[in-house]
Amino acid sequence: MRPLVARIDTAALSHNLMAAKRLAGKARVLAVVKANGYGHGLARVGRALRAADGFAVLTLDEAATLRAQGLSHPIVLLEGFFHPDEIAEIARRRLQPVIHREDQVDALARARVEHKIDVFLKLDTGMHRLGLAKKPWLAALERLKSLPHIGTITLISHFARADEPEIGVEHQLAVFRDAAQGLNHPASLANSAALLRYPEAIADWARPGIMLYGASPFAGQTGADLGLLPTMHLEGRLIAVQFVRKGEGLGYGHLYMAERDMRVGVVACGYADGYPRHAVTGTPVMVEGRLTRTLGRVSMDMLFVDLTDIGNAHVGSPVTLWGDGVPVETVAAAAGTIAYELLTALAPRVRIEET
Ligand SMILES: Cc1ncc(COP(=O)(O)O)c(C=O)c1O
Repeated sequence: MRPLVARIDTAALSHNLMAAKRLAGKARVLAVVKANGYGHGLARVGRALRAADGFAVLTLDEAATLRAQGLSHPIVLLEGFFHPDEIAEIARRRLQPVIHREDQVDALARARVEHKIDVFLKLDTGMHRLGLAKKPWLAALERLKSLPHIGTITLISHFARADEPEIGVEHQLAVFRDAAQGLNHPASLANSAALLRYPEAIADWARPGIMLYGASPFAGQTGADLGLLPTMHLEGRLIAVQFVRKGEGLGYGHLYMAERDMRVGVVACGYADGYPRHAVTGTPVMVEGRLTRTLGRVSMDMLFVDLTDIGNAHVGSPVTLWGDGVPVETVAAAAGTIAYELLTALAPRVRIEET
């Protein structure tokens, strides 16, 4: 068996959920489990997070996967429905679509369904991605209220810069409060960054994603700094050890030239496994429990590690690409990206083990 595994720590998932619940206080927690549970496996994450008050996904298939786990929680479809044909199944499976366009309100008005549908109505408070501006949003709210087959209407918006200390949520929160003034509906605003940093933005349903997977939404801070535990440990082994002489080049493009005579390890993990090709020489990696660095260009199936200070390293030595001791955020930063991308890009060919 190729020695590469993503070990998913389900106890860490529940630990992080409890951290989110503590922050949320009286508010309920919608666990964001889209993108295959941020790469951890949707069914597995659903089971591990069954103490959440609800789940947020994108598609009917994802919702069906959760229902097949026996999860009867509220399930929110964050992009709503993509075609009116989906409304019947949404009603049958008791899913809650985010309504973000006027034609979706028209489609709901025309729909004939067996059960009432609870919806989330999205206000664009400044992200300018999904949602209606104040006036059409208020009009949509009135129309939805008048429809007998629409149940609870939760007001929803999303923050664009909650992770940035200088900007935060203040402006978007003010826009929301102005639009929602005098309305008596539950609201959902906070992603992980807002939940962690802005208690005033928590509202009735918090929507944490990344923090449940043990990673920090804030640049320069790791999940561990926030009391979170890593949930995905990408672990491999050395499949070769090479000696290179000072001045010799390593791998494609000879991107790294040996600064001295040195021992170099080859790990069975590459960009086709989801390890970022843009990770530069110096990206942290652990071999035999000791921190070292990657060298040269990541190839499709392998990468190089520096064994200079790890005299006992040998073929078969354990390697942590990210997880305990190697925060996924630091690997992401070395590749010019964010932990979200690394976790969700884990390739299907990587074997998953659950602990
Ligand atoms: C609408 C919405 N809410 C909540 C989240 C969760 O965000 P985070 O993973 O930063 O907590 C996302 C994630 O992208 C989202 O798109």
